[in-house]
Parts: sequence; C-alpha cells; structure tokens
Amino acid sequence: MSEIAHAPKDVEAVGAPVLSVSNLSITFNSPAGPVRAVDDVSFSLARGRILGLVGESGCGKSVTASSLLGLVRSAQTGGRILFDGHDLAGLSEEDWQSIRGSAISMIFQEPMTSLNPVFTVGEQIAEVLRVHRRLSRAQAHEQAVVALRRVNIPAPEERAKEYPHRLSGGMRQRVMIAMALACEPQVLIADEPTTALDVTVQAQILALIDELRRRQGTAVLFITHDLGVIAEFADDVAVMYLGNIVERGAAADLLNSPQHPYTLGLLGSTPKLDARAERLTVISGQVPMPSRRPSGCTFHQRCPFADEHCARDVPPHREIAPAHWVSCWKAPIELHA
Ligand SMILES: Nc1ncnc2c1ncn2[C@@H]1O[C@H](COP(=O)(O)OP(=O)(O)OP(=O)(O)O)[C@@H](O)[C@H]1O
Ligand SMILES: [Mg+2]
Repeated sequence: MSEIAHAPKDVEAVGAPVLSVSNLSITFNSPAGPVRAVDDVSFSLARGRILGLVGESGCGKSVTASSLLGLVRSAQTGGRILFDGHDLAGLSEEDWQSIRGSAISMIFQEPMTSLNPVFTVGEQIAEVLRVHRRLSRAQAHEQAVVALRRVNIPAPEERAKEYPHRLSGGMRQRVMIAMALACEPQVLIADEPTTALDVTVQAQILALIDELRRRQGTAVLFITHDLGVIAEFADDVAVMYLGNIVERGAAADLLNSPQHPYTLGLLGSTPKLDARAERLTVISGQVPMPSRRPSGCTFHQRCPFADEHCARDVPPHREIAPAHWVSCWKAPIELHA
C-alpha cells in the first residue's frame, strides 16, 4: 500500500479524478431490521477541485465521508471506491492506517471527539508526522509547530504545549485542520468544519482550505448545510436526500438552474442567494427515517410536483444538461411557472 500513500502529487493535473465512488451503499443492522443509510451513491473528487456535499441532517453525508476512510465498520457496504486507480475494498486495517491522515485525511464534525484529551496538541500532530513521515521526535515537533503556524494559530510554539480542552472551539478546529493537513493529503474530507465557529473564523478556515487546494492540488470533499458557503467556495455540488445523491453538477449550474424539487426547496430556505429564491417555498414535512424509505422517489411525499409515477418508480440519475445530473421524473422543472 505504500505506493498509494506516497503517490506523487501532480498539481498541474487539476481536474483529474483522484477518488471515485461508484454505486456506494451502506446498510446498518438495527434491532428493527436493516437500515440503508446510503443508497447507490456515485461521485468523484478531482485534483484541485472542491466538491460540496449538502443535505438535511441524517441524509447520510457523514456516513458517506467516513466510508472513504474505511471507518464504517458495523455496516454492510456495497459499490466501489477507487483511489488513484486502486480499489479500496477489502483493505486490511494496517493498509487503511497508512492511508488515513496521510493520503486521505478528514476534518471531523466535532473536534473534541477526535482530539485526544491526554496529549498536547503539538504531541498529537507530531505523532501523525512520525507515523506517516517517519520523522524523528525533534523533526516531528518542529513540523507540528510549522503546521500550527500554517493555520494562523498565534504563538504556535506555545500553543503546541497546550491540551485540547484549554483551547477555544475555533482554535481546536484549527488544530484539527493543522493535523489533517500536516501530511499534505491528496484528498481532504471536511465534515462541517466551520458550523460551530463564528463568521470571521469560518472565513479564515475556508480561505485556508482554498489555499491548500490551489497550492497542492488537493481534492476536497466539503460537507455543509450552508448553501451560501457552497456558492462561494465549491466548484461542484452534490445534493443528498435520504441516502441518495438526487442532483449533482457544477456549482454555478446547479445553483442558478436547480432541477430537483429538493434542491429548489433548499435554495428557497436560503433567500439571500438569489432574488428568485424568495418565490420558492420552504420544504414541507420532515425527512423520513432511513428505516422507512418511501417507495419510488424517496422525496415524493414532500414534493409539490409528485404524482403516482413518482410514488411508484425510482427515478434514474439522468444527465439533464452537460455534466448536470438529476434523479427526478419531473425535471426539467419550470422555475417561474
Ligand atoms: N453506526 C451507525 N449505526 C446505525 N445507524 C447509523 C450509524 N451511523 C449513522 N447511522 C444512521 O445513518 C443515517 C445517516 O447519518 P449521517 O451521520 O451520515 O447523517 P448526516 O447527513 O451526516 O447528518 P448531520 O447533518 O446531522 O451530520 C442516520 O439516519 C443515522 O442515524
Ligand atoms: Mg454529519
């Protein structure tokens, strides 16, 4: 696996796919029976590009992201994940460990659950560098301070000696990012990295991720609830609903010309994006439990356009315009009807 972990980075090849996911499905066993949290999901991440993944709480964003790091253990998974041409199915835990944090790394939704409270932040970043880069203790410590400085942590030499609980939420999130970036990953997965932060810190962190992809050609999967962030920051967008990607395409196309009624609803609840959004209504009803997936199109019970066809048959993922896919029987939808 070492050839994967240390595959050369080619910043020139912006847009070349580095990780592709095909027909991913993830099913958890629960006392009430199997629960399909992710269903037939396909997308790819390209060098130097940011893919935004949006959708309501519980739709399967974090589970999808965790599967890219081999972290969904208690579930049955189907489909294929290719990283730099290598199939990640069936990797041993040892192989996953050589990839995680090195070639593919993740900024988790909640920093306190992934920072270890009994080690200083400097020790934790140094440990990642020692394992993946085989640096000496002194070199690893030095590089950990460099990593903290890179995420604009003031007085990084001093901060490196702090324990996570002594830092503010914003500082902890930067430490997480410093750790995720320390080994210059080819793929960065950021799961709601800025949700808990105030707006100015949020903007700095987004700028940092943006700089990384420009400088190093890192491919980024950016998970968020915030379509405003997507509009400013992502090149491509995938919209998830109840375990499916219901629409995907270039951010400009998808936001200016949304084709799935769920995407229309999401935009409707973010009226400052666009004057037109004011005419769209907020989505009615609630996301069903994954254990109660509706028949046909999983969105039909909440959809103002749905008919019997939608209730009965699963819509295929169609390319409705160049590089713009949608799973909806009713698309194209007239926006100003
Ligand atoms: N280990 C698990 N066992 C059983 N079900 C799980 C497990 N992990 C996640 N799920 C279920 O899978 C579904 C998708 O969860 P996931 O955490 O991916 O949602 P999400 O889109 O990230 O939501 P949020 O926006 O709130 O973070 C949820 O219904 C969740 O309850
Ligand atoms: Mg989540």
